[in-house]
Amino acid sequence: MTATHSVGRPRPAVDLMPAYRPGKAASQAEAEHGITNAIKLASNENPLPPIPSIVDAVAAAARSANRYADHRATAVRERLSSWLDVAVEQVTVGAGSVGLLQQLFLTYVDPGDEVVYPWRSFEVYPVYTQLMSGVAVTTPLTADHAFDLDAVAAAVTDRTKLVLLATPNNPTGTALSTDQMANLLDGISTETIVVIDEAYREFLDPALGDPVRDLVPRYPNVVVTRTFSKAQGMAGIRAGYAIAHPEVIASVDKTLFPFAVSALAQAGAIAAIDAEAEIGLRIRDILSERSRVVATLTDAGWKLPDAQANFVYLPLGERTDAVYLGMERLGVVTRPFPGEGIRVTISTPDENDRFLDTLEQVLAQQ
Ligand SMILES: Cc1ncc(COP(=O)(O)O)c(C=O)c1O
Repeated sequence: MTATHSVGRPRPAVDLMPAYRPGKAASQAEAEHGITNAIKLASNENPLPPIPSIVDAVAAAARSANRYADHRATAVRERLSSWLDVAVEQVTVGAGSVGLLQQLFLTYVDPGDEVVYPWRSFEVYPVYTQLMSGVAVTTPLTADHAFDLDAVAAAVTDRTKLVLLATPNNPTGTALSTDQMANLLDGISTETIVVIDEAYREFLDPALGDPVRDLVPRYPNVVVTRTFSKAQGMAGIRAGYAIAHPEVIASVDKTLFPFAVSALAQAGAIAAIDAEAEIGLRIRDILSERSRVVATLTDAGWKLPDAQANFVYLPLGERTDAVYLGMERLGVVTRPFPGEGIRVTISTPDENDRFLDTLEQVLAQQ
């Protein structure tokens, strides 16, 4: 059933599509609950503004913003190629990694084609599948909220055009090792593209391996997507990148709408690569806060999934809505998945304390 419209006739696929649900802004929670001083821990953002050299590079680029940017982001590709030690033909740049994910759908998914992904996972996967009139084939998570790769392997058929693996997974935070992924890839035809969505790469345990080093050279059907949004704190600037076989990159490049990666995003991306060491210190702070938050919750009796990203996941089941709302009324905005759990972004020490105290208070009232 499609809705009746008085203006225009949207494609049925769009009519039926769930709208992407961004995290609630702190100001919105303040208006809804008549409170002040709300904090947003709902979108896995970096709590700190970009480092000054990124801000300066973006501001400098703004001075020439009367000109179109380089559509291919050539300078960023070249910088990524040397940074990641891959051929320049193996990298591309997109408008955030969601931009690249959408390009992958545009490149590979025709109506009726199957897209396999474990669920629950990143919320744009069902949205993009629907947008292309593809068929979503999902596999359940394990009891530990991790991916069941045997189930994924069993779900892949010759109709599967894309397999999507977010590692670390949003919202559960669990991650796969490259050995586990290689095992899966050994059983998948190179006609099926396997996307390894590493938006949270910088926060995961390096012992799990690096798919760019361990998988891309061995499996021509692997695409690794990454972003400058999270660890580098550039979510509002929109720059992401992908690494894959040159043939895959060439196809994906055809689907980039003209000048999608702004000159500001390109300048910011290069400045972020240049500042790897400085950004590394900020990542270290987030990881140490993550350890502290996980330890505090574990001491309080929580059994949390392995947290490999810049957030923790509280599997609250039926209590999700009540706890989420209770915390929001007290000014702590998190991300609920009704009936399943709550995802909470790791922030500054003060904001993390506020979350921990508020959670304790809300649970005590129940
Ligand atoms: C798994 C996953 N992939 C991709 C993204 C999108 O990041 P970007 O800002 O690069 O579009 C997110 C953002 O929340 C994410 O959770």
